[in-house]
Amino acid sequence: MCGIVGYIGKDNAKDIIIDGLKKLEYRGYDSAGIAIVRDGKLEIKKHVGGIANLENLIGDDPMTSHIGIGHTRWATHGAPSDLNAHPHGSQDGKIAIIHNGIIENYHELKEELIREHNIKFKSETDSEVIAQLIGVIYQEKKDLLESVFAAVDRMRGAYAIVAIAEDEPDKIVAVRKDAPLIVGLGKGSNFVASDIPALLKYVKEIYLIENNETVLLTSEKVTIFDENREEINREVFHVTWDADAAEKEGYEHFMLKEIYEQPKGLSETLNRRLDENGKINLEGITLTKAEIEKFSKIYIVACGTAYHAGLVGKYIIEKLVRVPVEVDVASEFRYRDPLVDENTLFIAISQSGETLDTLAALREAKSKGARVLSVVNVVGSSVARESDDVFYTWAGPEIAVASTKAYTTQLMCMYMLALYMGLEKGTIDRDYYDQFIRDLQKMPEKLEEFLKKASQIEDEAKQLYNREQVFFIGRGLDSAVSYEGSLKLKEISYINSFAIAAGELKHGTIALMEPGTLVIALACQDFLYEKMVSNIQEIKARGAYVMAIAKDGNESIAKHSDKMIYIPECRDEITPLISVVPLQLFAYYVAKERGCNIDKPKNLAKSVTVE
Ligand code: AGP
Repeated sequence: MCGIVGYIGKDNAKDIIIDGLKKLEYRGYDSAGIAIVRDGKLEIKKHVGGIANLENLIGDDPMTSHIGIGHTRWATHGAPSDLNAHPHGSQDGKIAIIHNGIIENYHELKEELIREHNIKFKSETDSEVIAQLIGVIYQEKKDLLESVFAAVDRMRGAYAIVAIAEDEPDKIVAVRKDAPLIVGLGKGSNFVASDIPALLKYVKEIYLIENNETVLLTSEKVTIFDENREEINREVFHVTWDADAAEKEGYEHFMLKEIYEQPKGLSETLNRRLDENGKINLEGITLTKAEIEKFSKIYIVACGTAYHAGLVGKYIIEKLVRVPVEVDVASEFRYRDPLVDENTLFIAISQSGETLDTLAALREAKSKGARVLSVVNVVGSSVARESDDVFYTWAGPEIAVASTKAYTTQLMCMYMLALYMGLEKGTIDRDYYDQFIRDLQKMPEKLEEFLKKASQIEDEAKQLYNREQVFFIGRGLDSAVSYEGSLKLKEISYINSFAIAAGELKHGTIALMEPGTLVIALACQDFLYEKMVSNIQEIKARGAYVMAIAKDGNESIAKHSDKMIYIPECRDEITPLISVVPLQLFAYYVAKERGCNIDKPKNLAKSVTVE
């Protein structure tokens, strides 16, 4: 996920592009760059870090030009660096492109460009292949539009690409396939961008570009071509949102937007590593069968929400790989002289990859000889760089402090790792594996369906938002999810919430149950269902008010509960991928009713880089 902006017209392109990129930093912020044509020469300036770093690099240079393209990056191929930043240029310096998305066949195109055209690549990105390919074609065709058409015919993947050419400084060409692209219509100026917020200050009239369409922009005219390269007409879309709403794509808060992005995050995280036979491809991870068999112990270490993903990881890895797994919070792990040796696999989970406690625990484990694998969302972050192997989540940038889509994609990685190791080690057979993968593949759609019930959860929240304390209970995997539900509620609504394994209640905590005490009870594990019903009866007997979460069809629990939320039927092991979502939504709507600052809760930071 990256932000892209292009401009052609009577004003200075650099100022408009930098301004637009600042509005898109929520799409990615690990490096940024700009390309213009000044006095007949193509110039590119780019820098690792946010837009502020790019501005420092540009300094007082006005970069006077009427045409330009700019990019803010969220790394996928290649760590954040000056060289991997966009725009990318062709070897002869005549073409510059920016790209959002992924080129699946970049490897074969790259080999061909090296072999047949002696291209020397400067970056590790798939995107540079686009610049080089267009550059090579352009040498023959001498026409940017025709060159982009020809290049696109060779590419597979998802992309929004914007290209300019030194020898044709009067045009921009952009193309879209499965990545957002819009065109802004000005007077004597035209714009292209990945999202509306980048352009709102300048234009309110937009063309929404569809898949497989190509756009040719001059300062006076915008022409759209369909996949057959025929010119087509497009209705103008009049934007009525303000800039803030547009960044959130119409959602009131980033947290809600990110909750709704979970089906996409799950599908990306799964499908990017599945080959056509349903086999998990751990490209970039060098765990061999012999190494997997050698591990006598696995540690999963993380903080907060990522730690809660680790609790699910423990359950599933122990079940599928039959090796003991210990889960620890990072700030504890490093100070307790843990039993780590070269037969230990250490798994660090971190959305940001910059959490100091997690990083310190990782270093501790590494110094004792452990093999370190991390599950990280931010490409090229410190945790990723210091790990032996990295399993990236594909959640995209998470802006809200309360983690939602990072958690569910971390869970997906846990399932995939467990399945991969189990199959390699022979602790699960191929039939079991195949069925599990098929079940995982159904989850994005099931979650999409479930999200249509959000209004029911909003209604419950409106009735329950003024409770002073809330308990979350569950058994097995439901207990792991309870911890996450409780954290979500306390961090954004400031309600005192508490999670406990349901079977443990009677050993003390049940003393706190009084008439009206709100208990959110997860009963999504079929084999523990009857036990949960008994636990619910115990607290109902003390007057608690129970909101239960169960799978569709398990309706007998409704007799013992005050409110019911049903999640779609799915195998027990993967229910956390959905059962956490009503808890996220409940926390969100309660916090909203209480007037809290949902995306930036008090006392908290998105990335905790202190001890
Ligand atoms: C969860 O909503 C919090 N933002 C917090 O617990 C977070 O998960 C924790 O600080 C770990 O962050 P990381 O995943 O970036 O390492």
